[in-house]
Amino acid sequence: MITGKYPSLRLRRNRKESWSRKLIQENTLSPNDFILPIFLIDGSNKRQEISTMPNVFRYTINRLSQVVDKAIKIGIPMVALFPKTKNSIKDELGSESLNEKNLVCRAILEIKKRYKNQIGIMCDVALDPYTSHGHDGIIRSNQIVNDETIEVLVNQSLLQAEMGCDVLAPSDMMDGRIGKIRKALDKSKYHNVQILSYAAKYASSFYGPFRDAVGSKGSLKGDKKTYQMDFRNSDEALREVALDIKEGADIVMVKPGMPYLDIIKSVKEKFKIPVFAYQVSGEYSLISNAIQKKLVNEDAVHESLMAFKRAGANAIVTYYADRIDKIIK
Ligand code: PBG
Repeated sequence: MITGKYPSLRLRRNRKESWSRKLIQENTLSPNDFILPIFLIDGSNKRQEISTMPNVFRYTINRLSQVVDKAIKIGIPMVALFPKTKNSIKDELGSESLNEKNLVCRAILEIKKRYKNQIGIMCDVALDPYTSHGHDGIIRSNQIVNDETIEVLVNQSLLQAEMGCDVLAPSDMMDGRIGKIRKALDKSKYHNVQILSYAAKYASSFYGPFRDAVGSKGSLKGDKKTYQMDFRNSDEALREVALDIKEGADIVMVKPGMPYLDIIKSVKEKFKIPVFAYQVSGEYSLISNAIQKKLVNEDAVHESLMAFKRAGANAIVTYYADRIDKIIK
């Protein structure tokens, strides 16, 4: 593979000038590669800071345009909506997920009314923002029950599709949910609604700040290891992805991001389908705090995002997306 030999071959020759380095660049990023997560809260006229995530905010529905306008202006193709549900309306079954007036439903309607198809909307399918115990599914005798959870997820999917959600993103890791959701969508004339499966999602410590942001941290009992994957495994990720593709996923996600670049690469090589990466809240907070403390300079953000491209990701979900124009310029 390597042809030539020092001293007649010198790789530094191509790196000598900036114009030459530009020509030999193998990967680039554009705003089109990014998805912006948006946190929602009840009330009006609020933009609330999230203490564990510097420069990330929760927005009330009437303030959404502030952030969506910006996303459209810089060329972000899609936003992902995450609600912070009041504790008083959470219950064991996550019933609020099926309320057609819940935060996510109202936000979808608002964005679609205002922006039509200028920007895509992606919504999580999972119960954790709505359950009093903070788990993604329903609990019976101390177990997160698979099939009964899927029934709720199917209804949550249909509701979000009805509101106008473009891309449903099951992030719950129940077995078989992609097939059931696809079937239900097709039966209800939502055959054009896309499914972005969080196919390889690991039980990770890097979700900490997110659980803070959606308010499930205090309530979460135990961990999610009976449904999310063990970080020691990679073959298992390929099985998860294979199943989800078979069941009808249009796109698969690997999550978290940076500690799992090997998984992104092997999924891409093996399946040749669109693969998205999620640079999760803990990664965001680590990098942002290190920059604030001047441990690393702010170019670290660009470098961290390019890694996903190199690994083979088609798009990246990141909390930096609303500033991406400045980061990659
Ligand atoms: C919930 C969900 C989580 C994230 C996205 N959807 C957290 C979890 O599984 O506990 C994490 C995102 C992040 O950390 O940025 N199903």
